[in-house]
Amino acid sequence: MQIRRLSPALGAEVTGIDVAKISDSQFETLRQAWNDAEGFLVLRAQTLEPEEHVAFARRFGPLFGEADQFQESVLKNLLPGQPALYRVSNKKDAKGEPLGRERAGTYWHSDVSFRREPAQASLLYGIEVPDNGGDTMFASLSKAYAALSDAMKRLLGTLDAVHDFRVAAVSSGSYAQSDLANQDFDGKNRAIHPVVVRHPETGRPTLYVNPGFTSHLDGFDQAESDALLRFLYTHCQRPEFIYRHRWSQGDMVIWDNRCTMHFAVSDYNADRYMHRATVVAQQPQRYRAEEQRCTG
Ligand code: OGA
Ligand code: MN
Repeated sequence: MQIRRLSPALGAEVTGIDVAKISDSQFETLRQAWNDAEGFLVLRAQTLEPEEHVAFARRFGPLFGEADQFQESVLKNLLPGQPALYRVSNKKDAKGEPLGRERAGTYWHSDVSFRREPAQASLLYGIEVPDNGGDTMFASLSKAYAALSDAMKRLLGTLDAVHDFRVAAVSSGSYAQSDLANQDFDGKNRAIHPVVVRHPETGRPTLYVNPGFTSHLDGFDQAESDALLRFLYTHCQRPEFIYRHRWSQGDMVIWDNRCTMHFAVSDYNADRYMHRATVVAQQPQRYRAEEQRCTG
């Protein structure tokens, strides 16, 4: 297996492995490489059955569709017979029925951050990709955090943010009203998380807010919250924190929702068809700078 860094911000490319036949020690090497590359890996040239994709994803932890359910509004996008795979596609079947969620995530977001137990890894497998266009952008929220002043870090370290599926569902314009299920707004898809969290594997501090799902900073007036969040989002989107992935057919892309956010660029008309497995995270925990110094 060969591992090559893709950008100083985040990301590494892995060639020379077959995800369907991975050993435990190869998996540990991959997980380490994933953490070293700030939570982004692409495993090139895979040919996987849905069951093989799901079996690989389970190595990271329990899956949405199995251990926990996705929100009702997106259940029609799951692969029939394989509820752990979410179809992201602009294709339609012979009857004109969508073969998945068209143009998912065309705004900066971290998957499922509106749940008390949100997503850790997402594993998106590019089965059919446009010749050009349809890239996905990733921003390192740990790199963005590290570049803030100490005064800003101290302020943010005490704050909490409210995340709500309603933000994307209602304001992004990317969901049709008819796609939305009322029960998704009854509280299960709303959560409060610290603004600065400790990555449970690396111990590193990272921002955990995103324009797609974060509604406001807890306890602040809306205008105050908007101003601070707008600053953070502009900061996080600086080019030096971003890697833009250009897809090749057979790419298995694994990103870490605990320390990155991503954006699907909607600039293509060609067919695009992908399957995503989504791993359930533990509840995000606040990063405590003091403890960190004591325990090393
Ligand atoms: C997702 C998502 C990005 C893309 O599947 O979570 O945001 O480029 N997709 O399709
Ligand atoms: Mn997403």
